[in-house]
Amino acid sequence: MRRSNDVKDYIRTIVDFPHEGILFRDVTTLFADPRGFRMAIDQMLHPFAGERIDKVIGLEARGFILGGAIAHQLSVGFVPIRKKGKLPGTTISEEYTLEYGEAIMEIHDDAIQPGEKILVVDDLLATGGTAEASIKLIERLGGEIIACSFIIDLPELGGRKKIEDMGMNVQVLCE
Ligand code: PRP
Ligand code: HPA
Repeated sequence: MRRSNDVKDYIRTIVDFPHEGILFRDVTTLFADPRGFRMAIDQMLHPFAGERIDKVIGLEARGFILGGAIAHQLSVGFVPIRKKGKLPGTTISEEYTLEYGEAIMEIHDDAIQPGEKILVVDDLLATGGTAEASIKLIERLGGEIIACSFIIDLPELGGRKKIEDMGMNVQVLCE
């Protein structure tokens, strides 16, 4: 167990993953550390003390780990947004652009009741494409998004601005 109070100190950087030239910010070392993991969950929850949240929505895959812990702490339900073809029930979909090509995110069409207050959770905001598609899905089902919360923002990729321009409250623990 490490001693630092800064979540950045628990995040590992892997050079050239998944492609040459990419510095991959790896949160598995944060999740694996009991102090680091608890700190990240507590810090992500902090801005919402006393606020009504009905559901936590986690984005595949690392958003499931964070979202499950946050939902448990809030005693509310957890809903996954997944890549195409993984959810077994009836879904709605949104396509989004990746660095190379396109991908599709899906949510079960009965996972949110109109007017429910939603907290969206993921590990990292890069171009914002994943979060943008997820916000569209949640809003199509009538969810009211209180905020989108991430451990890391990569500011040079512009994701935060894109999501804030959609009218979202964006919370990040570090850049
Ligand atoms: C990463 C990360 C976010 C997304 C951010 O997931 O966990 O979900 O990319 O990128 P964006 O802001 O440019 O959309 P990844 O697509 O690697 O999927 P995984 O978690 O299933 O491995
Ligand atoms: N880490 C995790 N997911 C990512 C990254 C990263 O550095 N860049 C784009 N998606």
